[in-house]
Amino acid sequence: MARLVITGGKRLSGKVSIGGRKNSAVAVMPATLLCQEPCTLENIPDIEDVQVYRSILKAMGVPISHTSEGRYTIDGGAYVPDGPPPHDLVKKMRASYYLLGALLGRYGRAEVALPGGCDIGQRPIDQHLKGFRALGAECEVEGGTVRALAPSGLRGANIYLDVVSVGATINIMLAAALAQGTTVIENAAKEPHIVDLANFINAAGGRVTGAGTDVIRVVGAEALYGCNHAIIFDEIQAATYMIAAVATRGDVVVENVIPKHLDPISAKLQETGAQVLENGDSIRVIMDGRAKAANIKTLPYPGFPTDAQQPMSALLSVAEGTSYVSETIWEGRFKHFEELRRMGTDVRIEGRTAIIEGVEELTGASVRATDLRAGAALIVAGLLAHGDTEITGIEHIDRGYEHTTENLQALGAQLRRVE
Ligand code: EPZ
Repeated sequence: MARLVITGGKRLSGKVSIGGRKNSAVAVMPATLLCQEPCTLENIPDIEDVQVYRSILKAMGVPISHTSEGRYTIDGGAYVPDGPPPHDLVKKMRASYYLLGALLGRYGRAEVALPGGCDIGQRPIDQHLKGFRALGAECEVEGGTVRALAPSGLRGANIYLDVVSVGATINIMLAAALAQGTTVIENAAKEPHIVDLANFINAAGGRVTGAGTDVIRVVGAEALYGCNHAIIFDEIQAATYMIAAVATRGDVVVENVIPKHLDPISAKLQETGAQVLENGDSIRVIMDGRAKAANIKTLPYPGFPTDAQQPMSALLSVAEGTSYVSETIWEGRFKHFEELRRMGTDVRIEGRTAIIEGVEELTGASVRATDLRAGAALIVAGLLAHGDTEITGIEHIDRGYEHTTENLQALGAQLRRVE
């Protein structure tokens, strides 16, 4: 199994260009199945989850091609429904369940295995099913498979989400895009990748308004057609490099970002004492001296993103003072602390709050990534620790971070990937 070996203590400095957003790519790729003509997608990141999606669509018989620069052509118009997508691939990630909304929206029926994804909590899909049922579909979950059927087609509906859910908001948008009439999603998620998907659907001839607010209106279209769409940058990759810059007391510019989307990260890093300078589509993060403690409460956008909680916890492990980290989204998203403790993190967990007593320094150790963002936390810890850190389980990291080793080496980190 591959592993990363990091020799800590090197200041990161220089520039890193941020690629397309994982959580947008894995929504827009299945969305092309709503379209009757080929779509071209730009800025699709070279990560494991995208490779899995590529394999799923190929296995379904959907014509798909891509270039090394992340330009994809996917011809949903040429797809002829012929049985469920391969269960073994569907289980490799969470976002495969967007195939439900896309196939139900286009063909009035869908059969997809329950998804996989990071082990960070229960991850129910009740709000997705609530939305599909409101649109007129009969849904059942049996034998590890979700079946949805709308024999007389889907009709627009008003849906109030009981909990702000990115996945349910996206899946309902996909199913509603071609429904008869108008759908209103209330208490919708407002993440930038929800807006990105709405922009894609509208570019293909759809009529989605309100994305980015908590009320999204989808007027069902007769049909959706081919379009060109470049997906937005990966906010969490950018956040991870910004946190690593502060953790190593460095000076790093993250490029190809929309600074506004990173406001929660920038504000929190400034609280720790970092300088954060926005300049058009880049942000420069400079840190001299030891970080100060800060409190984190993860919330849906525009709150502090839960996906950045884990790498931020690594930084707070060596901050001066006590930090309180409250994880309100996922009840199982503290597993990285078991590994950080091996490196010297002093933390006690009380329910959904981790109380971190900052220590002077962490010491390199052999640690294991248990999920994607836990892996990011261990990389940040390895970069700031004294001595060598060996990280196994990096297949989790490969799911959502592209060119990690090359990017960090270019910023001055001393690390190598050992296959
Ligand atoms: C998406 O997961 C992301 N994954 C997650 O990122 C991210 O942590 C999460 O949104 C929150 O931002 C993808 O986009 C592929 P939710 P998702 O539905 O859609 C509850 C990463 O690291 N809920 O917004 O599964 C749920 O339990 C991954 O890139 C229900 O109760 O998250 C949670 O407490 C990890 N019923 C809360 O809502 C439902 O039907 C938010 O979940 C759905 C969700």
